[in-house]
Amino acid sequence: MGKLEGKVAIVTGATSGMGRATAVLFAREGAKVMVCGRNEERAKEVVDEITKEGNTAEYILVDASKPEDGKLIVDKTVKDLGEPDILINNAGMLSMSPLMDLSLEEWEKVNNVNVTSALVLTQLCVPYMKKKGKGVIVNIASVASFAAHHGFAAYISSKHGFAGLSKSMAWELGPEVRVNAIAPGLVHTAMVDSIGGLDVLQGMIDGCPVKRAGVPEDIANVALFLASDDSSFIDGQVIKVDGGFEC
Ligand SMILES: NC(=O)c1ccc[n+]([C@@H]2O[C@H](COP(=O)([O-])OP(=O)(O)OC[C@H]3O[C@@H](n4cnc5c(N)ncnc54)[C@H](OP(=O)(O)O)[C@@H]3O)[C@@H](O)[C@H]2O)c1
Repeated sequence: MGKLEGKVAIVTGATSGMGRATAVLFAREGAKVMVCGRNEERAKEVVDEITKEGNTAEYILVDASKPEDGKLIVDKTVKDLGEPDILINNAGMLSMSPLMDLSLEEWEKVNNVNVTSALVLTQLCVPYMKKKGKGVIVNIASVASFAAHHGFAAYISSKHGFAGLSKSMAWELGPEVRVNAIAPGLVHTAMVDSIGGLDVLQGMIDGCPVKRAGVPEDIANVALFLASDDSSFIDGQVIKVDGGFEC
C-alpha cells in the first residue's frame, strides 16, 4: 500500500521540475493528484504519465499571478477528485531586476505567484482538511529564504516571506493541519536553464559538500516524507534540501 493511499493532493507548478516530480511520485504512492500550471501541453503530459502508470490525475490551467483564481483549482479538485488532504504550494517565478529598477508591478507579480497564491489556496483547502480532522501543507521555499544575494530582491523577499508564512500557518492551522516548507538549493530544472543552466551556477555546486546540483526527485522525496504520516511530529519547519550548500 502506498504512503498516500486514498488521499487527494493539489500540486501547484506541477507541469515542470520539482512540482512535476512530486505529482508523479504522489500518484505512485496512491494519491489522486490535481496538476496545476499554465502550460496545457506539459499539463497533459504529466497527467498522461500518471494515468499510464494506472494512477489518477486531472489538470487545471490557472495563472498564479491572479491568486483569486485559486478557487478554480479547489472547486475542480473537489468535483473531480474529492476534498483535498494535501496541498503542495510549489509554483514559483524568478525575478532578477536590480533593486533600483524593480517596478511595483514586478514586485506584486512575484509576490502574487510565490506567496499570495499559496495563502489563498491554503485558506480554501483548510476548511476541508479541518472537517476531515487532518491535512498537510508543504510549501516550496528556497535557500533564498535564508540569505540575500545581489540582484534578486523581489525573489528573495518573497521567499523570506514564504518561510515566515509557513511558520505562521503551522501555528494557526494545527493541530489538524501540519505545515512545513522545503528550502531547495540548486536543483536542475527549467528555472535554472532559464538563467543559463548549471554551467553559470558552478559556484553553487562547488559550495556544496555533495558536489552536485539537485534533481527534481530529490525534492519530491522530501515532499513525500513531509506529506505522509512518517513526519507526523514535524511541524512549522523550513527544511533545507540543498546538498549542504554553505553549511
Ligand atoms: N530550481 C531551483 O534551483 C530552485 C531553488 C530553490 C527554490 N526553487 C523553487 O522551487 C519551485 C519550483 O521551481 P522549479 O525549479 O521546479 O521550476 P520550473 O521547472 O520552472 O517549474 C515552475 C513551475 O511553476 C509554474 N508556474 C510558474 N509561474 C506560474 C504562474 N504564474 N501561474 C501558475 N504556475 C506557474 C510553472 O507552470 P507553467 O509553466 O505551466 O505555468 C511550472 O510548473 C519554485 O517555487 C521555485 O522558486 C527552485
